[in-house]
Amino acid sequence: MNRLNVRRLKRISLPVGILLAVMVLAVAAFAGEGKKIATVTIPPAPELYAATPQPLTVNQCGQCHPGPFGNLKNDGGKHRFDCQKCHSTFHAYNPKKGGWDAIMPKCSSCHAEPHGKAVTDCLNCHTNPHAPKKVAMDARLVNACGTCHPGPKQELDTFPSKHTKLGCNRCHTSHGFKPSCFTCHKPHHEGQALATCTTCHSVHKPRQITYEKDSPAVTCGSCHGEIYGKWQKTPSKHGKLNCAVCHHSKHGYVPQCTECHAAPHKAFILNRFPKCLTCHLDVHNLPTKQAK
Ligand code: HEC
Ligand code: HEC
Ligand code: HEC
Ligand code: HEC
Ligand code: HEC
Ligand code: HEC
Ligand code: HEC
Ligand code: HEC
Ligand code: HEC
Ligand code: HEC
Ligand code: HEC
Ligand code: HEC
Repeated sequence: MNRLNVRRLKRISLPVGILLAVMVLAVAAFAGEGKKIATVTIPPAPELYAATPQPLTVNQCGQCHPGPFGNLKNDGGKHRFDCQKCHSTFHAYNPKKGGWDAIMPKCSSCHAEPHGKAVTDCLNCHTNPHAPKKVAMDARLVNACGTCHPGPKQELDTFPSKHTKLGCNRCHTSHGFKPSCFTCHKPHHEGQALATCTTCHSVHKPRQITYEKDSPAVTCGSCHGEIYGKWQKTPSKHGKLNCAVCHHSKHGYVPQCTECHAAPHKAFILNRFPKCLTCHLDVHNLPTKQAK
C-alpha cells in the first residue's frame, strides 16, 4: 500500500465507521428479544405439570427412610398402617429453629392411658414407635414389673422361696419370655416331662405344692424311696391306691384313716386303742392275709 492509498482510506474510514456502528446497534436491538436472563439454557416442559400430585405412599416414604420402613415391616405389629396417620406433619424440622418434639407424633393422640395414670413416659419403654412391642429389658422396665403384673410379685412376696430372691429378669430375660424350668433345674427322675412341673409347682410360689390325685407315684418315690419301695411290693389293697389319693391336694398332707374307713370296728375297741396303727402297724404295707 502506498502513501496516497493510506490517506484515502483515512478519509473514508470515518463515515464507514459510523455506518458499522449503526449496523451493530441495529443487530443488537433485534437480538434484544432473546436477552440472556440465565447463564444456562433449559427449555420449559409444562407437560410435566399436567398431573395432580398424589400423596406419598408408604412405599415411597420407605425409599428414603428404609430404617422406619424396615422396623414397621418386621416388628410393626398393629402400627403397620400409613405413616401419615401418625406423621401428619413431616419434613418440617429445621435444625436452626429446633422444635423436633413438637412435630413428632404423640402417643396420646391415639392412646388413652393404657397402663394407668402413673405411667406417662411412653418412649422410655417403647423406644421405637416403629417396633412398638419391642420393649427393652432395661432398668426402667425391670423396676416397673410389679406395676403392671401385681399378681406374680405378690405371690413371690407372700410365699417366700428361693425364687423370691431372684430378680424377675433372671428368669424373664426378655419381656414376655417364659423360661423352661430345665434351664436351671433337672427333673426329679429320668423321663419326667417339663409339662408336669407346673402341675405341682406354681413358679412364683414354688414351695406351695399342690397336685391332683392322679399325680404319678414315681415322682413321690424320687424323694420318698423307702416308702415307695414298700408300697410297690405290699400285698395290701393300699398298694393299689396312688400316693396322691391319700396324701391329696397339698404336699405334706397326712390323712386320717377315718376319711375312708368311717366305722371299721366297734366303738369300745377304738376307745381302748385310739390309734389304728397300733394294730395295723404300717399304712404303706398293712399286715394282711390276702395276696395282692
Ligand atoms: C404409630 C405412629 C407412627 C407410624 C405409623 C410411623 N411413625 Fe415415624 N415416628 C413416630 C414417632 C412417635 C416418632 C418420634 C420418635 C422419637 O421421638 O424418638 C417417629 C419418628 C420418625 C422419624 C424420625 C426419627 C427416625 O427414626 O429417623 C422418621 C424419619 C419417621 N418416623 C419415619 C416414618 C416413616 C417413613 C413411616 C412409615 C413407613 C413412619 N415413620 C410411621 C411414629 C410413627
Ligand atoms: C425423597 C426422599 C424422601 C421421601 C420420599 C420422604 N422423606 Fe422424610 N426425610 C427425608 C430427608 C432427607 C429427611 C431429613 C433427614 C433425616 O432426618 O433423615 C427427612 C426427614 C423426615 C422426618 C423427620 C424430620 C421432619 O422434618 O419431620 C420425618 C418424620 C419424615 N422424614 C417422614 C417422612 C414420611 C412420613 C414420608 C412419606 C410420607 C417421607 N418422610 C418421605 C427424605 C424423604
Ligand atoms: C395415629 C394413631 C396412633 C399413634 C400416634 C400411636 N399409636 Fe399405638 N396403636 C395405634 C393403633 C390403631 C393400634 C392398634 C390398636 C388395636 O388394634 O386395638 C396401636 C397399637 C399399639 C401397640 C400394640 C402393638 C401391637 O402390635 O399389638 C403399642 C405397644 C402401641 N400402639 C404403642 C404406641 C406408642 C408407645 C405410641 C407413641 C410413641 C403410639 N402407639 C402412637 C395407633 C396409634
Ligand atoms: C415401664 C415401661 C412402659 C411404659 C413407660 C409404657 N409402656 Fe406400654 N407397654 C409396656 C410393655 C412391657 C407392654 C407389653 C408389650 C407386649 O405385649 O409384649 C406394653 C404394651 C402397650 C400397649 C399394648 C397393650 C396391650 O394390651 O397389648 C400399648 C397400646 C401401650 N403399651 C402404649 C403405651 C403408651 C401410650 C404409653 C405412655 C402413656 C406406654 N405404653 C408406656 C411397657 C411400657
Ligand atoms: C407397662 C406395663 C408393663 C410392664 C412394666 C411390664 N409388663 Fe409384662 N406385659 C404387659 C402387657 C400389656 C403384656 C401383654 C398382655 C398380657 O399377656 O398380659 C405383658 C406380658 C408379659 C408376659 C407374658 C404373659 C403371658 O401370659 O404370656 C410376661 C412373662 C411378662 N409380661 C413379664 C414381665 C416382666 C418380668 C416385667 C418386668 C421386667 C414386665 N412384664 C413389665 C405389660 C407390662
Ligand atoms: C424362677 C424364675 C422366675 C422368676 C424369678 C419370675 N418368673 Fe414370672 N414366670 C416364670 C415362668 C417359668 C413362667 C411361666 C409359668 C407357666 O407357664 O405356668 C412365668 C410366668 C409369668 C407371667 C405370665 C403368667 C402369670 O403368672 O401371670 C408373668 C406376668 C410373670 N411371670 C411375671 C413375673 C414378674 C413380674 C416377676 C418378678 C416379680 C417374675 N415373673 C419372676 C419364671 C419366673
Ligand atoms: C433362671 C433359673 C431358674 C428357672 C428358669 C427356674 N428356677 Fe427354680 N430355682 C432357681 C434357683 C437359683 C433356685 C435356688 C436353688 C438353690 O438355692 O439350691 C431355685 C429353687 C427352686 C425351688 C425350691 C424353692 C425353695 O425355696 O426351696 C423349686 C421348687 C423350684 N426352683 C422350681 C422351679 C420350677 C418348677 C421352675 C419352672 C416352672 C423353675 N424352678 C424355674 C432358678 C430357676
Ligand atoms: C408330683 C408333684 C411334683 C412334680 C410333678 C414336680 N415336683 Fe418338684 N417338688 C415336688 C415336691 C413335693 C418337692 C419337695 C418340696 C419340699 O422339699 O418341701 C419338690 C421340690 C422341687 C425342687 C427343690 C429342690 C429339691 O429337689 O428339693 C425343685 C428345683 C423342683 N422340685 C423342680 C421341679 C421340676 C423342674 C419339675 C418338672 C420336671 C418338678 N419339680 C415337678 C413335687 C413335684
Ligand atoms: C423333691 C423331693 C420330694 C418329692 C418329689 C416329694 N416329697 Fe414329700 N417330702 C419331701 C421332704 C423333704 C419332706 C419333709 C420336709 C417337709 O416336711 O416339708 C417331705 C414330707 C412329706 C410328707 C410328710 C409330712 C409330715 O407331716 O411328716 C408326706 C406325707 C409327703 N412328703 C408326701 C409326698 C407325696 C405324696 C409326694 C408325691 C405327690 C411327695 N411327697 C413328693 C420331699 C419330697
Ligand atoms: C392308703 C393311704 C395312703 C397311701 C396310698 C399312701 N400313704 Fe403315705 N401315709 C398315709 C398315712 C395315713 C400316713 C400317716 C402315718 C402315721 O401316722 O404314722 C402316711 C404317712 C406318710 C409319710 C410321712 C410319715 C413317714 O412315714 O415318713 C410319707 C412321707 C408318706 N406317707 C409318703 C407316701 C408315699 C410316697 C406314698 C406312695 C408311694 C404313700 N405315702 C401312700 C396314707 C397313705
Ligand atoms: C384315701 C382313702 C383311705 C385312707 C385314708 C385309708 N385307707 Fe385303708 N383302705 C382304703 C381302700 C380303698 C381299701 C380297700 C377297700 C376294699 O377294697 O374293700 C382300704 C383297705 C384297708 C384295709 C384292709 C386291708 C386290705 O389290704 O384290704 C385296712 C386294714 C385298712 N385299709 C386300714 C387303714 C388304716 C389303718 C388307715 C389309716 C392309717 C387307712 N386304711 C387309711 C382306703 C383308705
Ligand atoms: C385292736 C386292734 C385294732 C385296732 C385298734 C384297729 N383295728 Fe382294724 N382290724 C383289726 C383286725 C384284727 C382286723 C381284721 C383283720 C383281718 O380280718 O385280716 C381289722 C380289720 C380292719 C379293716 C378291714 C375290714 C374288712 O372288712 O376287711 C379295716 C378297713 C380296718 N380294720 C380299719 C381300721 C381303722 C380305720 C382303725 C382305726 C380307726 C382300726 N382298724 C383300728 C384290728 C384293729
